Amino acid sequence: MSSGVLERGPESMAADVYRPRVATVLETRGEIAAHGASRAVVTLSLERDGLVYRPGQFLEVGVFGVGEVPISISSPPGLADTLMLTIRAAGYTSSLLTRMRPGDRVGVRGPCGNGFPLERCAGQDILFVAGGIGLAPLRGLLWELLLDRRRYGRIVVLHGARTPHDLLYPWQWPEWKCLGVEMMLSVDAGDRAWQQQDDPPRVVGFLPSLFPRLDLDPARTLTFLCGPPVMIHIACGELAAKRGYRPDRLVATLERHMKCGIGKCGHCVVVDRYVCMDGPVFAYDELQAMARIEPPW
Ligand SMILES: Cc1cc2nc3c(=O)[nH]c(=O)nc-3n(C[C@H](O)[C@H](O)[C@H](O)COP(=O)(O)OP(=O)(O)OC[C@H]3O[C@@H](n4cnc5c(N)ncnc54)[C@H](O)[C@@H]3O)c2cc1C
Ligand code: FES
Repeated sequence: MSSGVLERGPESMAADVYRPRVATVLETRGEIAAHGASRAVVTLSLERDGLVYRPGQFLEVGVFGVGEVPISISSPPGLADTLMLTIRAAGYTSSLLTRMRPGDRVGVRGPCGNGFPLERCAGQDILFVAGGIGLAPLRGLLWELLLDRRRYGRIVVLHGARTPHDLLYPWQWPEWKCLGVEMMLSVDAGDRAWQQQDDPPRVVGFLPSLFPRLDLDPARTLTFLCGPPVMIHIACGELAAKRGYRPDRLVATLERHMKCGIGKCGHCVVVDRYVCMDGPVFAYDELQAMARIEPPW
């Protein structure tokens, strides 16, 4: 039996699941400029238009006449009028989205997927493990927790990226710190000047090299992870096997290749699960069961 992170499917999805709603871009923010092999990352703020969603759900975002891509909502439901999407220019459609300007229009279908189990967070310590742009879906949840900070215990964010330049949302870290978020950083490659700063504390190495610095009680900690599949695999494995974190308290969100986002096309299927409907959020015990038959989640 699965740990049932959340029940399947978005009850809030529009009746006509195939027809996109037209949303106007209100604002854009360049998060990361393209450099070397790294692609640009941009946050679009869209009209929310009353959309009801959970942190961890995603939208199928369309460029008219071109195509649609699944993108997580990176703002919290508690933010009244705006919907934020943080997008990396991975291919053609996502690159066009990163070049949108205020007043441009996009298509939006959803929300899709199950989202994070927000109701399990009350009274718990919360650990976020975010590789690269994986901080985007986690930010929606983190921000939602910070809107009602007293309901939660310690909040620790471990964020890793390839270089210091690829770390996400540095403009927001001071605000998070003021609200009691404890943050630690890792980069695969960083120079001496970067290493010599200590606010937030940091290491040069892969994200799990921060784990020895964790002083949370695994029994009262709920962990949320997002990043490349190999990172999730290694991080969950180490937290569970070496550090006593229970697999059903390690909650990851997966980025599988998707088309329809609503359980029709089968592109996202792993074993007997539709990642677009049963996920993209799964607990590590569910992922382990899925990987028993098909490893590359
Ligand atoms: C549930 C979900 C949430 C996502 N949230 C975000 C987000 O918040 N921000 C963001 O920038 N991206 C997110 N992605 C990834 C994003 O959907 C892909 O980068 C996008 O679909 C690429 O489409 P494209 O047409 O621009 O490029 P393509 O030409 O289709 O692909 C360009 C490159 O991206 C890879 N790619 C394509 N689709 C995916 C995918 N679904 N997941 C991972 N890699 C992919 C391809 O293998 C290729 O290397 C999410 C994906 C999923 C499934
Ligand atoms: S993306 Fe089509 S079934 Fe999941």
